[in-house]
Formats: sequence, structure tokens, C-alpha cells
Amino acid sequence: MHKKSKFGLELIDSEEKTHRVQDVFSSVAANYDLMNDLMSLGSHRLWKQRFYQVVKLTNSDVLLDIASGTGDIALHFARVNKGIHLTCLDPNKKMLDLAKDRFIDSGILENINFITQPIESFVKDNSFTCATIAFGFRNFTNQKKSLKNIYTSLKVGGKIVIMDFKSPSNSIIKEIYEKYTDFVIPRIGKYIAGDENSYKYLSDSIKTYLKPEELSDLMKEINFQNVTHETLAGDIVTIHKGYKI
Ligand SMILES: C[S@@+](CC[C@H](N)C(=O)[O-])C[C@H]1O[C@@H](n2cnc3c(N)ncnc32)[C@H](O)[C@@H]1O
Repeated sequence: MHKKSKFGLELIDSEEKTHRVQDVFSSVAANYDLMNDLMSLGSHRLWKQRFYQVVKLTNSDVLLDIASGTGDIALHFARVNKGIHLTCLDPNKKMLDLAKDRFIDSGILENINFITQPIESFVKDNSFTCATIAFGFRNFTNQKKSLKNIYTSLKVGGKIVIMDFKSPSNSIIKEIYEKYTDFVIPRIGKYIAGDENSYKYLSDSIKTYLKPEELSDLMKEINFQNVTHETLAGDIVTIHKGYKI
């Protein structure tokens, strides 16, 4: 079913969103890492550095990296935190295959699992000390169910850290930012990846995504404790953290 949101964007039902998100990431997989560098002018690497600091893993952690995509986040932790137990989860086979290839190329395969599945259907009781999601949460079809499954899958004392985009609060910055995401990013997608529509979807998904306070409230509703968030990159990225206590 289609209806218009307050942004004038088309809202789609959950089954259609699941398919559209799958199509988008299957289409962009081969150029995903290059496009990340081009679209963010390399800044996503700095944002991820801050994310790593907030996550702050130890070598004995058991990490569930959700929406692993091509494995940027997971591979960083596997390299830095030797001996870590790591599960990379993503429903998109093309994206996850690229992550697997990167792990094989890096020679890191011990204690690493890959699961091709959406988080909405994954639960492993009291199993992980940390769950990370970078630039994936806004694509999830059922965000509440995802958080519930993550909560159940964490051990007591475990934490969740979510990084994603946000719309800037300042109206002037927002206008400039939306010109960039609405017009420049889809053009880069068209010329570099041969796919304008997928990058239009990625831009639109930022506009319809939860506000930082809304995500904090949702995390608290699921019973995550000590929920905090910070914004970075001139107010276009947020990092949320919460604990299962
Ligand atoms: C933008 S990529 C992020 C990749 C990586 N975390 C990074 O930061 O580069 C988003 C990923 O979310 C995955 N995704 C979409 N829906 C999902 C779901 N329901 N459960 C888990 N992952 C999902 C997509 O397949 C895609 O690979």
C-alpha cells in the first residue's frame, strides 16, 4: 500500500520495503565501498573511527555486527581485537559475500561467522556482549522487532551501538544538505554505479528515519538502559548507545 508522508515521499508497506532494500543493496554492492568514499568525500572513515571509540571492544568480546554489508566495521574489530568472536549478519548475499572475501583476503577466519538473514528473524539468547549497527538501522523493516531480538541476544551487561544518518536541525544546513542528498548523490550514483534510483532511495530514507530522540525512546521502550546519543559530522550522523542491565 502506498501513501504520502509529511515529506511528500511515498511510504511503502513492510513487505515492499524489505524487497526494495534488498534490491537497492544488491544493485549497489559492487560499487558500495567506492561510492561511500565519493559520497562522503572520505568522511565515513572518520565517523567510523568515532564509532570504534564508542564501541570500545576488548579481545574477549562476542560481537554481533548487524547489517555488516561489505564488512568495514566487522573487519576493523577483527583486526584490532585479536581473538574476538564475531558474527556478521546481513540478509543481502551479495553484500555479505564481499565481506567474506575481505576476511579471506585478510587471512582472518577463526571465530568468524556469517549469517545471511534479516535481524528481524534472528535471535540467539544471551549470547553476545556487544551488538553494532552502522548505517543499517534505518533500512530495517521492523525496527522495534529488531531491537527486541538484539536485546534478547545480548548477555546481561552487553551493549548496543547504532550509527546512522540524521537530518540536520539547523534549517539552513538542512537545506544545503538536502540539495546534496537529493541531487548530487543520485547523480554520482548514476555516473559511477549506473544506478540513480538506489541512491535516491538512500537519500529519501534519511528523511523518513527516526529523529535521535525517537530512537532513544524506542530503545528505552525495549528496556535498554543508560541510553545516550551523540551527533557528529556537523549534525548529520548520530551514534546511540544502550545497555542490557
Ligand atoms: C548501508 S549498508 C551498511 C554496511 C556497513 N555496516 C557499513 O557501515 O559500511 C546497510 C546494510 O544493511 C543491510 N540490511 C538491510 N535490512 C536489514 C535487516 N533487516 N537486517 C540486517 N541487515 C539489513 C543491507 O543489506 C545492507 O548491507
